[in-house]
Amino acid sequence: MSVYRTDFVVIGSGIAGLTFALRAAEQAEVVVITKKERSESNTNYAQGGIAGVLSPEDTFDLHFQDTLNAGAGLCHEDAVRVLVQEGPHQIRRLIELGARFDMERDAEGNPVLALGREGGHSRNRIVHYADQTGWEIERTLLEATRYHPRITIHEHFFALELILRDSECVGVWVLNTHSDEPEAFFARAVLLATGGCGQVYPHTTNPPIATGDGIAMAWRAGAYIANMEFMQFHPTTLYHPSARSFLISEAVRGEGAVLRLPDGTPFMEQHHPMKDLAPRDVVARAIDAEMKRLGLPCVYLDITHRPGEFLRQRFPVIYNRLQSVGIDMAREWIPVVPAAHYMCGGVQTDLYGRTSIPRLYAAGEVACTGVHGANRLASNSLLEALVFADRAATHAVEARWNQPRTDAVPPLEALMQASGVSEEVEHEDIRTRLHAVMHQKVGIVRRLASLQEAAQELQRLQRRAQLVVQKAPHRVEAWERWNLTIVGGLIVQCALRRRESRGLHTLVDFPHRDDVNFKRDTVLCRTAGLDTSEASLSHETRNSAPRSG
Ligand code: FAD
Ligand code: SIN
Repeated sequence: MSVYRTDFVVIGSGIAGLTFALRAAEQAEVVVITKKERSESNTNYAQGGIAGVLSPEDTFDLHFQDTLNAGAGLCHEDAVRVLVQEGPHQIRRLIELGARFDMERDAEGNPVLALGREGGHSRNRIVHYADQTGWEIERTLLEATRYHPRITIHEHFFALELILRDSECVGVWVLNTHSDEPEAFFARAVLLATGGCGQVYPHTTNPPIATGDGIAMAWRAGAYIANMEFMQFHPTTLYHPSARSFLISEAVRGEGAVLRLPDGTPFMEQHHPMKDLAPRDVVARAIDAEMKRLGLPCVYLDITHRPGEFLRQRFPVIYNRLQSVGIDMAREWIPVVPAAHYMCGGVQTDLYGRTSIPRLYAAGEVACTGVHGANRLASNSLLEALVFADRAATHAVEARWNQPRTDAVPPLEALMQASGVSEEVEHEDIRTRLHAVMHQKVGIVRRLASLQEAAQELQRLQRRAQLVVQKAPHRVEAWERWNLTIVGGLIVQCALRRRESRGLHTLVDFPHRDDVNFKRDTVLCRTAGLDTSEASLSHETRNSAPRSG
């Protein structure tokens, strides 16, 4: 076993991790741990773009209000203000680093950013690079870190557990998958930037890395976890046997695409005044309702009124992918269904990325900053990752956390009860069972009785998954499965506590929004007892002094 020491450990090399690393490395040494190749992340696949107030026709107030409208009463207004006001500066910083976003000419012929439109936005404000915005951002950030003298990136290193001493986070246990050996990285502070957890569902836009490891690690360590009931399903992913769940960007609707039933009827006008550009939860629920009402396997997205040349240039990835499965989007409707896309909840943080555990920060999709409330506004997540990762880095540097001791390395807690492991536990396909439960009982529309059944089943799966980890601690898939069962359990526990319907959480037993009882975050903490969902606690968590550096 090896022991290392650095100033800051960052877990994850997506937009949040790399943004933190670049800022913190202005003053300190940073080690980035990432479980696959460095570019493999949700960030790399982002299509539509990044929202920001960058046009004279737009204002902070409008972006603020659109975000609040999408969030269905649960957004933290202080966090949203920070997001919209600091966002444009962060986007410009990306451009200074070399990001090549699409440009156009204004009325005077001057080059300006080409701004797209997506669901829930009252103005054109989506900065993009065709439909490969995430790839371009990831490329830019990786290029900036490549020869940085203070940043080291370890690929194929899998973070297992946070190391706690005196209830503070002083490092992380990592599995070096080249040697299959656990290694302890100690640091003045740790950033969780592990992204989302779409893999908890069988149909997801997320790549295989999105197994919720950071949320599970933080949960085991006793951090506050919030709002996990708000899993966002993207309304339009390709319905095709050989390319299931490939994302068809909301920007396609931004360019005029219309959702239709098989007989051609456009149906969104019956569901929302903003029609096909209504907030995402509304569109996903409408598609789900139409599919159930008519017994359809999918609905259709029609952009055939746009010329092929325009579509090839504006959406090259989507165009080519569709063509590879025999669909010409310029002539044919695209068959689409909703799929799991984005976790609005996560490890609860304040406005500086601080979690409830001192020295542990979180940013990006793993974090719950309060920005998204009950439903994220399209293209606000890349922005949130940029803004709050940068704030977290600034805080972590200024906090001057001291170097922790590296002697007497605490043991890997998860492996402490390894006795009594039976051979048979490995024989159940835990992931398949988890997927079945999440798909059937914890989907877009939920029932209390099904959630209760899911809770029991997930508890059983979680125990079995933990036993497999204890038996084979060098196997990354075993840890991922365990993490997924923990995250599934958290989604269900939060959903069970929210006895109303709001944003992304629709409970048929409680079909209405209940502001009197539920206009607050759902907060869970393993070490403080399961349910700590008091409004006052949530407030205290965001502002409490003991967590300052
Ligand atoms: P990620 O980019 O997912 O990075 C997480 C990193 O953590 C990865 O490097 C991963 O390998 C690493 N990691 C995870 N677990 C471990 C572990 N145990 N040990 C070590 N490393 C680990 N948002 C928008 O705003 N606009 C869009 O247009 C948009 N389009 C999207 C399209 C798709 C197909 C998808 C999937 C998402 C899209 N999103 C979009 C959402 C957005 O891309 C993500 O929310 C955002 O990129 C998350 O960034 P992140 O840095 O938090 O996490
Ligand atoms: C998309 O391009 O539709 C995804 C945008 C997002 O998730 O914000």
